[in-house]
Amino acid sequence: MIEQVLAIETSCDDTSVAVVRRDGFVLSLVSASQDLAHEPFGGIVPEIACRNHSIALLPLVEEALKKAAVAWTDLGGMVVTNRPGLIGSLIVGVITAKSLAQARHLPLIGVNHLEGHLLAPFLRDDGFAPPPDFAAPYVGLAISGGHTSLYRINGLGDYEVLGATKDDAAGEAFDKFAKMIGLGFPGGVKVDRLARNGDPKAFNLPRSLLHEDTFDMSFSGLKSSAQRLVDQLGPEETARRQADLCASFQEAAVDVLVAKLDKAVRRTGLRRAILTGGVSANSRLRERTQAWADRENIQLVIPPIRYCTDNAAMIGYAGILRLNRGERHGLDLSPSPQSAAGDFREGRA
Ligand code: KG4
Ligand code: ZN
Repeated sequence: MIEQVLAIETSCDDTSVAVVRRDGFVLSLVSASQDLAHEPFGGIVPEIACRNHSIALLPLVEEALKKAAVAWTDLGGMVVTNRPGLIGSLIVGVITAKSLAQARHLPLIGVNHLEGHLLAPFLRDDGFAPPPDFAAPYVGLAISGGHTSLYRINGLGDYEVLGATKDDAAGEAFDKFAKMIGLGFPGGVKVDRLARNGDPKAFNLPRSLLHEDTFDMSFSGLKSSAQRLVDQLGPEETARRQADLCASFQEAAVDVLVAKLDKAVRRTGLRRAILTGGVSANSRLRERTQAWADRENIQLVIPPIRYCTDNAAMIGYAGILRLNRGERHGLDLSPSPQSAAGDFREGRA
């Protein structure tokens, strides 16, 4: 049985390394954000992302081991995100993990980034632990800058896709809206902060597919309606009403997310749910989802923000479970921008 692994996550713009135990305890998690490097461009520039990964990664590996007080000889495996993501970013992580695994004679496994998000509620540390009776099956809503999907999680490696966004990811919509009203990139967290002083009913923005009998979602209509509204208001009024605009936009997005989660719980009959991915850091979404769970008597786990946003701890946990099931990858492990066939099952009716 492998007791602890080193994990690397470089699928997008955050470089992250963790040491994780097989019970999900996170011995260390260190990350380097690249927000400042991409901000001047108003979005993630793939070439800049992979260059920065190559600069940050090895120092973070050293730091993660030091923080965990773990030596190379104490490790039982090497885990890396190899799909899906930005290909240049994935290449840096995969090549580094393969080299380290070979040099240190460690078994290697590549995992799907989304599987990491779906298992994040099982991570634990001195400040967080999931409820002791929390286990699969459960419904998972994974919401980030790159993906917005609803799953039924039956157990390790058994994930059914119930629905997904047909266009923009929710985080992408938050970021584009933020840019529209002059908040810079990435703007999701700024929208959240400003919305606290705004009126969510100030502007009426669309809730696409809210009542349709589907788990699929759409956020591009919300984004273009917001753009039309901002154009109508003009720059001065937009600046003056920033808080109301943020609150109204956020409320529309949250209404859809909560409604789809509710629908999935009803349809599957499961009484357990999780929120995961960067957008689950949103304070209004957390508050509304918790209120819904309390009302409906659903066991809801929302991991702390450090495990919701992209991080290597969730990757390490998914990897150590798989390694302990006997799975291994060879040195021909390759990165892929897409999920592999068989990673997810189609669960749409
Ligand atoms: O999971 P994540 O760290 O990276 C991806 O895999 O995309 O998610 C990042 C996304 C960004 O779009 C960011 O704006 C959004 O999560 N985000 C938020 C908040 N914090 C991060 N969106 C709304 N409210 C927040 N508080
Ligand atoms: Zn992610």
